[in-house]
Amino acid sequence: STESRLIVISNRVSAPKGSNSGSQGGLAVALAAALRENGGIWFGWSGEVTEQFTGQINFQREQGVTTAVVDLEEQDVEEYYEGYANRTLWPLFHYRIDLAEYEREFAGGYQRTNERFADTVRPLIEPDDLIWIQDYHMFPLGAELRRRGCQNQIGFFLHIPWPPRRLLGTLPGAQALVESMFEYDLIGFHTEEWLESFCDYATHEMGAKIENGVATLGDRCVRLIADPIGIDAKEFAEASAGVQARLAFRRMRDSADGRDMIVGVDRLDYSKGLEERFSGYERFLIEHPEERKEVFLLQIAPPSRVSVETYRRIRNSLEGLSGRINGEYADVDWVPIRYVNQGYPRDVLAGIYRAAKIGLVTPLRDGMNLVAKEYVAAQNPEDPGVLILSKFAGAAEQMQEALLINPYSAEEIADAIQQALRMSKDERIRRWTVLMDGVQREDVTWWATRFLDALKQARPVVTAPE
Ligand code: G6P
Repeated sequence: STESRLIVISNRVSAPKGSNSGSQGGLAVALAAALRENGGIWFGWSGEVTEQFTGQINFQREQGVTTAVVDLEEQDVEEYYEGYANRTLWPLFHYRIDLAEYEREFAGGYQRTNERFADTVRPLIEPDDLIWIQDYHMFPLGAELRRRGCQNQIGFFLHIPWPPRRLLGTLPGAQALVESMFEYDLIGFHTEEWLESFCDYATHEMGAKIENGVATLGDRCVRLIADPIGIDAKEFAEASAGVQARLAFRRMRDSADGRDMIVGVDRLDYSKGLEERFSGYERFLIEHPEERKEVFLLQIAPPSRVSVETYRRIRNSLEGLSGRINGEYADVDWVPIRYVNQGYPRDVLAGIYRAAKIGLVTPLRDGMNLVAKEYVAAQNPEDPGVLILSKFAGAAEQMQEALLINPYSAEEIADAIQQALRMSKDERIRRWTVLMDGVQREDVTWWATRFLDALKQARPVVTAPE
């Protein structure tokens, strides 16, 4: 076929598993599908650490998808992954400059590791391949590939927010980072808001010109799009009707013993607003003592990036807070918060979502948030639950029929919980129908196709004359 191959590059690579999507994220499912269709390679870090970086690639082929991964050395992991990616960029891009650490070693290690990725992946790239780089671990990779003579169409997608210009201005080297992004042909963001913040920085701090969705800086131009990611809605809805989900649903309904369940599922991350969520729920218990033994909150929060200090702190703080709230309000036959530091497969989560009267998603900032979409996709159409969603999650741009709240306000969270518990079935069905329609229409395949179509058209391919 004349279709170009696709090279996907991301820090984490997930090889396709089994035939159902039970334990795999929607993104992995979508990228695997695109790779299967176009042929190509998914390249990235193996997640393994070696004594010394060798650049040796480990290839694997499973279910029509080739993955190619490299090990990193300890210092790379410390400076690039834990350091610059997760102690510098992650907090800054989630508006937490109070937590951001600016260290030359991190910036240097990030650059070095991206150069290593570029050296390693370069020989795998053929002239007609489309290259699609994912997320904040790899901002400079496009420029590094160009430096190695790569003239392919290269697209970049950011899965986290883009911070306001005044916050980004605090990062040493911010201009160079943004300048390097002009080596891409296309940059995608989940929302208009993140895209506008990027343009704001590029125009005001660097003198770029924006016209018709193209940013121009000197002789470089890059196309920009807002392209919200979705979930594999069809597969997820199927999973929620499968055996594992039905078992989980039963288990939750039995243990709920007639009480209404509120559910939250998040990586244990300070951007998720978990402290604020617990406080909002406590406020609800205070304001509605009559509801106390009628509800409970199940918070599933698998630990994440445990080697980073800020993540250990949020974990400690949540242990304290959940312990205090439980100690204060629990009775011999009721506990207000079930706080679980364990992850579950997606098909089990689907059953848990379906058993929950309320999905409580309250990040302080989030690039998108797919839990909101999965919660909706898992509901029973005849008796759906209510989604309470932070207006600061990227998902809020598409999910206006949720109960949108300001997660910094305990009162708004408490009021929304009460409103959701009281909501008539008619209104629940009306809101859910609109939400579900969006989740199904703008699914993960829609997202990937829109991006790849835009990438193919971003720069006309110059064919050599006969
Ligand atoms: C966010 C990021 C992803 C990242 C994921 C898990 O969703 O946008 O790039 O893979 O978190 O974090 P981890 O550090 O475990 O890869």
